[in-house]
Amino acid sequence: MSSETFKVRLEPQDAIFDCAPDQPVLLAALAAGIALPWSCRNGTCRTCIAQLVSGSIVHRIPWPGLSAEEKAAGLILPCVAEPRSDVTLRQP
Ligand code: FES
Repeated sequence: MSSETFKVRLEPQDAIFDCAPDQPVLLAALAAGIALPWSCRNGTCRTCIAQLVSGSIVHRIPWPGLSAEEKAAGLILPCVAEPRSDVTLRQP
């Protein structure tokens, strides 16, 4: 496993935390003491939904609870999203 981690910036709080490439962004935020909304943590409830402002992520499940339009608009579910670069997210 790579020890590389990425930087995640969270708006509007302007919080920054590290996230490993095999770690859900939500869990990395919680581990860093940053309170993000969540409920199911498995990509279905959409409580954690956020906008990907920059950078790239992959969802670790094939069908996260997002429509094709939402995905195209850059919305992600941080509880099942792993970073593939430094990323910036915006909470709605
Ligand atoms: S916490 Fe339910 S979709 Fe992320």
